[in-house]
Amino acid sequence: MKKTVAILFGGSSSEHEISCISAAAIAENLDSNKYNILMLGITKDGRWFLYSGSTESIRTGTWASDTAACRHAFLSPDTSVHGIVAESPDGFESIRIDCIIPALHGKNAEDGTMQGLLHLSGIPYVGSPTLASACCMDKAVTHTLLASWNIKQAHFLWFFAENYSGDGRKKIQCKIDARLGWPIFLKPANAGSSVGISKVKSAKEMDAAVALAALQDSKIIVEEAVTGQEIECAVLGNECPQASIVGEIGSNAEFYDYDDKYKNGTSTLYIPAHLEESVAEELRHIACRAYRLLGCTGLARVDFFVRNGKEILLNELNTLPGFTSISMYPKLWEACGKPIGQLLDELISLAEERKRYI
Ligand SMILES: Nc1ncnc2c1ncn2[C@@H]1O[C@H](COP(=O)(O)OP(=O)(O)O)[C@@H](O)[C@H]1O
Ligand SMILES: [Mg+2]
Repeated sequence: MKKTVAILFGGSSSEHEISCISAAAIAENLDSNKYNILMLGITKDGRWFLYSGSTESIRTGTWASDTAACRHAFLSPDTSVHGIVAESPDGFESIRIDCIIPALHGKNAEDGTMQGLLHLSGIPYVGSPTLASACCMDKAVTHTLLASWNIKQAHFLWFFAENYSGDGRKKIQCKIDARLGWPIFLKPANAGSSVGISKVKSAKEMDAAVALAALQDSKIIVEEAVTGQEIECAVLGNECPQASIVGEIGSNAEFYDYDDKYKNGTSTLYIPAHLEESVAEELRHIACRAYRLLGCTGLARVDFFVRNGKEILLNELNTLPGFTSISMYPKLWEACGKPIGQLLDELISLAEERKRYI
């Protein structure tokens, strides 16, 4: 019997557009002989619709204006519904769902908020549970936990944006001087897709960078600027995760920023990365260790810097990585001989395997 799979897309996040592209790619690559696919879209202002139009309109972002193809719907936290409640000619109907794929990125999506609702619904869902999602979203929390397990990272410190004023401002700048030096990378603790991130060359540039980051989050993290390669590793699994071949980003911008990631597309992906095999093997081991310690399940893309070809520094874990046809996560598995359709089958099985914990 076919399974009914709901793909959640859009969302109230700065990564709404990328989510739509990921969701269209996922819908197009799920085997329609095995799955009935439902598309559950969330607009930027947080309205939910069951969408029956084309994946192309999802990709181009015009889906929500096609009112004939949209009906109000929401995911029910009531486990007896085990699915969606949708507007119907008679009022409302409930539609049972076997598995949910949250093709969402960033805030209100990848940060544990959505996972809380998915968990309450009692429906198996792809990806990490609430706590792991929240920990990996908050860069200050991720860094603090990884440091406690002696996983190497760039030197860092974090502060609340509201404390960056008067004496507090001076103290923070002195700490940066003493512990990190300049330049630094200054980021909102909770954001994504490089939104709100600045490379800051001196204390003089700090105020503007803090103001920009504070638009995204009240917590700010600063890190030493690492000169080295940017390496990414795809991890897949629950208790016994596997790590993929590793890939490398050759960015043409000052850093791998939003425009470079999604607009100009001037960065180049190298698969495999230019790394000695022993270094790549160690990096894969660290990726799986961090994944397990943080409680990730299903999938994550673990991102690193490698300095001088050998020093491995973990940068971040993305629990719902980009899943477009040119995204690193599916490309890395493709390079390991796992085409995207098979990868999606495995992700659904991994979600079902965890049903006992929901
Ligand atoms: N400490 C750092 N040293 C050097 N480059 C960095 C550093 N932190 C971030 N970057 C650059 O900024 C990009 C985005 O930062 P990242 O921490 O990955 O945030 P996001 O969650 O937005 O992807 C990275 O891909 C990298 O190019
Ligand atoms: Mg990143």
